Amino acid sequence: MPQTPFDLILKNATTLVPNPSGPGLIEAGIDVAIRDKRIAKIGADLKESANKILDLKGLHLLPGVIDSQVHFREPGLTHKEDLETGTRSAVLGGVTTIFEMPNTAPSTTTQEAFEDKLHRAQNRCHANYAFYMGAAAENASELKKLELLPHCSGVKIFMGSSTGNLLVDKDETLETILRSGHRRVIVHSEDEARMRERRHIATDSQDVHMHPVWRDAESALISTKRLIALARKTGRKVHVLHVSTGDEMDFLQEQKAQVAMDDITVEVLPQHLTLFAPDCYDRLKNYAQQNPPIREKRHMDRIWKALLDGTVDVIGSDHAPHTREEKDRPYPQSPSGMPGVQTLVPIMLNHVNNGRLSLTHFTQLVTENPRRIFGVKNKGRIEVGYDADFTVVDMKKQRTIENSWIASRCGWTPFDGMKVQGWPTHTIIAGEVIMENDTVILPHRGQGVDFETR
Ligand code: DOR
Repeated sequence: MPQTPFDLILKNATTLVPNPSGPGLIEAGIDVAIRDKRIAKIGADLKESANKILDLKGLHLLPGVIDSQVHFREPGLTHKEDLETGTRSAVLGGVTTIFEMPNTAPSTTTQEAFEDKLHRAQNRCHANYAFYMGAAAENASELKKLELLPHCSGVKIFMGSSTGNLLVDKDETLETILRSGHRRVIVHSEDEARMRERRHIATDSQDVHMHPVWRDAESALISTKRLIALARKTGRKVHVLHVSTGDEMDFLQEQKAQVAMDDITVEVLPQHLTLFAPDCYDRLKNYAQQNPPIREKRHMDRIWKALLDGTVDVIGSDHAPHTREEKDRPYPQSPSGMPGVQTLVPIMLNHVNNGRLSLTHFTQLVTENPRRIFGVKNKGRIEVGYDADFTVVDMKKQRTIENSWIASRCGWTPFDGMKVQGWPTHTIIAGEVIMENDTVILPHRGQGVDFETR
């Protein structure tokens, strides 16, 4: 019986695959063949026939990049972003899968609101998608059921208030939530009580340079200490989002050493690895305002150290678009947040080219680690049987990031004007090239992501 041809063979790339003799990834000169949306064969110089052969000579083939923290604003705030524009921005930036946050309007805190998002996502998303369920005092006892809904990436807790009205600031409620369910909870950690006490610093000064003084390092550390104490008391796994302080990194490193692998996991953002105070506020004003804030360089340096020593597990973008009109309001009426899903890959590839981290390490932080930590089924690895999602990058390509390239409805990026080396050239989802040459060529191919929930 003659074998049917493969649908696609990706040839001649430097391909990042799991290291066969230990943890991590290695670069290998191997081809990848795809059939029925899955990786069907991997090997050096595959000679089999295929309906299509894509020659990726000179390029790197990575597993599809997962951005596990984005805010896409639908429903309710679609003047800033919607699922179509947000996922368009994702695939133009080489991101194949996004997990979207619950601080929309209404907040995603019920099965009905969650299913409404899934309904809206169908046939409109360019990237694969999953959604977080928001935690609140009102749905605490329901969360053990809600976290198991199909395409739910987990439960998100805001310990400090940010955009939207989700907030869990009392230890008692937090403990009830941590006891309701068993999947990893995902946490925005800033201490609400301390920030309320200090809010006058922002309102009195009306100066965005004071944003990291108002929401200071102590606010983050107090909250993270409360969170970890409760996580250890209840035995619940936690993922601490966008850690922005060296103080938390010291604490988290020490705590991680005392618990089982992955009981406590840590995310950082490209903006906290790239921008620092006061320079970012001098240049970008309110466009650098985000929560938790961008801080002085000594924090950035310590975050880099934590990334290199393995304390950091995941890089997410915290894509949080706001319109220029909103950002131009006088501080602190200006909202916090900046877009990032489209710039995550180029900004981090530029750091790779500058020798800050290896390409395999970066790839691990946005594919293999989120796969393992969130229990993503069939994604995040180049291995037979996995979904044929890939991010293809040109490590030599030099580009200037410009606002005009940004597909997010907000239309701006804090990295406008930055010259980078390293660029996503193709985004491949389920074995189809959906982005090439900075253009979405096959729209709306994103599907809901499945998770191991046991
Ligand atoms: O700066 C932020 N903006 N931090 C958050 O936690 C939320 C986000 C948003 O949704 O705007």
